[in-house]
Amino acid sequence: MNKREKLEYKRQQSLLGGGADRIESQHKKGKLTARERLELLLDEGSFEEIDAFVKHRSTDFGMEHVHFPGDGVITGYGTVNGRLMFVFSQDFTVFGGSLSETHAEKICKIMDMAMKNGAPVIGLNDSGGARIQEGVVSLGGYADIFYRNTLASGVIPQLSVIMGPCAGGAVYSPAITDFIMMVEKSSYMFVTGPNVVKTVTNEEVSSEELGGASVHGTKSGVSHISAANELDAMNKLRKLISYIPQNCEERPPSEAYTLTKNELREQLANVIPENANQPYDIREVIDGVIDEDSFFEIHKEFAENIVVGFARLAGRSIGIVANQPAFLAGVLDVKSSQKAARFVRFCDAFNIPLLVLEDVPGFLPGTDQEWNAIITNGAKLLYAFCEATVPRVTVITRKAYGGAYDVMNSKHIGADMNFAWPTAEIAVMGAKGAAEIIFKKEISEAADSAAALLQKEAEYAGIFANPYRAAERGFIDEVILPEETRIKLIKAFKMLENKVANLPKKKHGNIPL
Ligand code: HXC
Repeated sequence: MNKREKLEYKRQQSLLGGGADRIESQHKKGKLTARERLELLLDEGSFEEIDAFVKHRSTDFGMEHVHFPGDGVITGYGTVNGRLMFVFSQDFTVFGGSLSETHAEKICKIMDMAMKNGAPVIGLNDSGGARIQEGVVSLGGYADIFYRNTLASGVIPQLSVIMGPCAGGAVYSPAITDFIMMVEKSSYMFVTGPNVVKTVTNEEVSSEELGGASVHGTKSGVSHISAANELDAMNKLRKLISYIPQNCEERPPSEAYTLTKNELREQLANVIPENANQPYDIREVIDGVIDEDSFFEIHKEFAENIVVGFARLAGRSIGIVANQPAFLAGVLDVKSSQKAARFVRFCDAFNIPLLVLEDVPGFLPGTDQEWNAIITNGAKLLYAFCEATVPRVTVITRKAYGGAYDVMNSKHIGADMNFAWPTAEIAVMGAKGAAEIIFKKEISEAADSAAALLQKEAEYAGIFANPYRAAERGFIDEVILPEETRIKLIKAFKMLENKVANLPKKKHGNIPL
């Protein structure tokens, strides 16, 4: 074998991963190989591999005799829609994708390159966790990754897809990244698996029930996006990337858009029901405002009383935070506050302007909420908005009550443009509750208490169940018709394009975690 042939031979070997049998077993589970996934994710022919010949250094348990080139993770760079991405894809066919010292070094190397070159890191996770034969050097490898994840946070976008097992401390790298996507039925994440759970708590639970995509997409909120299968996952990832910039110094990508003669959206005039207590789907408002079919929802099935996601407005990438009256009346609670706060901070870190659609009856009362720290969690959302320096625009469609009025991107906490529809009600609380408190004596002493309550309720509503008291003070910049909303927003975000806002000098703030 001459020198050229030797290189070719080594290259061929490295493509085989753990060998044909293990690849077949991966396929039988309905899973693709690490390389096949990268082919789907990256632009055709764009992938350049790094460290294909890296081998582990372990000599215990006969490991010195078992080597697979690349050591269970494929790393390198490529493009998505022409944009540079650094990637790692764990290869389950090599020692179950488990993380050795060298496997970790490969991941750290591309993370360092991504930081130097200002490009996102995408991790495709499919791993049995720490390489059991290596002990503490494997744990050290994880910590090296966690450290880099943290330093890179807010500098370059970091995206994780879970495509198989992800257990033990291994979960903490994805958890520090910006978004986690999980593939339904074939992936799971947990800190301790079903066997340990059984021993410690005596609970019988399957991996899927404990940490499958559906659990993390609905109950815990650990996963931001669920994918039906691996192809769907790679397509969704490509779409997500289209809304976000390469790094914190850049603006998000924009698509060309020419204003049409008629940007009015008549359908918005009929969204708000006659009865203020009747629900409606805030997605109708979102769809009526944004560029057609451009909404990419995050955390779709988690804390559904708030809707968050990316969209385009006249080609521009924006982040949307919207109360959802169709679910728990759009009330703010622990989970919805956490969900929205995290999203606001991502958008702010990466220069994505924020649009808030507000219809909120307040914070959810009750022991469950108080004992689960609605105070601290509501404060997270408040803090996230207060701190955000990106262009921020609010539209109050209906209710803006109590503390939730302040929290939901009010003018007072730094929003740039605040619009309200004529149906807006901006007050300390709903008219009935308010009347019951401030006219308690009159109502109880009236000959007909029920009629007195109705009358006082109407009196209070007459004064506050409208946007004009707030507009008189300049808390609302303009009261607009629903059908005008899209064009007003296009103009507002264009006006705010070069906004500059600086925070006071500090090491870092202390968000209520
Ligand atoms: C070394 C591993 C491995 C590991 C799997 N393999 N996990 N090798 N270290 N952690 C190997 C197997 O020996 C096998 O090798 C191949 O990968 C496929 O594994 P199978 O068990 O045959 O596959 P499957 O039945 O699909 O089960 C997958 C699995 C199971 C559920 C992941 O392998 C498993 O439970 N592995 C151990 C998980 C674990 O406890 N990891 C440590 C967690 S603690 P061959 O040669 O037969 O193909 C941890 C701490 C991190 O990770 C802390 C960070 C701070």
